[in-house]
Amino acid sequence: MSTLGKLYKELLKTPGLTAFDIRELILFETSFKTHDELLLHLDSPWQPTSVFSNRLARLIKGEPIAYIVESSTFFQHRFIVNPNVLIPRPETEELINLVLEKTKSMKQTLHIIDIGTGSGAIACTLKKLRQEWSVGASDIDSKALEVAKQNANNLNVHIDFRKGSDLQPWVDEPIEGIVSNPPYILDPKTIDESVWAYEPHHALLSKQDESLFDPILRAFNTIPTLRFVAFELFEGWKPWMEMFLHHHSLDVSIEWIRDINQKVRFAWIERKRIK
Ligand SMILES: C[S@@+](CC[C@H](N)C(=O)[O-])C[C@H]1O[C@@H](n2cnc3c(N)ncnc32)[C@H](O)[C@@H]1O
Repeated sequence: MSTLGKLYKELLKTPGLTAFDIRELILFETSFKTHDELLLHLDSPWQPTSVFSNRLARLIKGEPIAYIVESSTFFQHRFIVNPNVLIPRPETEELINLVLEKTKSMKQTLHIIDIGTGSGAIACTLKKLRQEWSVGASDIDSKALEVAKQNANNLNVHIDFRKGSDLQPWVDEPIEGIVSNPPYILDPKTIDESVWAYEPHHALLSKQDESLFDPILRAFNTIPTLRFVAFELFEGWKPWMEMFLHHHSLDVSIEWIRDINQKVRFAWIERKRIK
């Protein structure tokens, strides 16, 4: 009988596989809960099954590990994911940190929504960390919403989920903050091959004149209670957004924030005078 350690070392020699992905794959087959626990038990006897070999073959072919093991860790919580939702990214964890930081000085009970919630990673994490907030989340895709609802159940958080495009599910709601990681890639050629092959295209791609940024920013005019909008995006949106805010004479300030790799990745837009 072989051991976990022997198999792990063997797999580490496979070109293109990361140690993290191999551990995720082994974790999925065993009763260990964390990577640390697994690493402490590398001397356990273990024989890979044919199911394991099939999953390994998918990994070697380039399928994201999160879809193979049907989950991904985001802000220290396990989220269910499947090909109907984007795999939550580390950049989006930075968006959570930005929102927590910027809202520190605001009142404790905020009514916020996450538009384009996908797996529900943003909405569920914010609700987990700010229990006094009222959190809503919407998506155009009902299959994505099913995943988000499962994640909210697993994390034991109450989120007001609604189906619909852009702000339509939230008409007449006294919303105070919008957090969104909308589809924002303009050129499909810039998308990684494995991302394009496996992740939902409607979660990635946007046309400049049909983006979610437009209706969300207009909410500063239609929702008087709205104090802030936090977006994940890429720098290519900067000229469009600055022109949009100027053209619509919105009484807001905009701050461009860089991610850990020094790329402009977030926009924090705040109403100058709260009504
Ligand atoms: C980039 S993914 C973000 C998923 C998740 N919030 C995250 O950060 O991991 C964008 C999401 O927006 C949704 N979406 C696309 N167009 C939309 C629209 N017009 N209205 C609402 N949601 C939309 C997609 O279905 C997808 O789930």
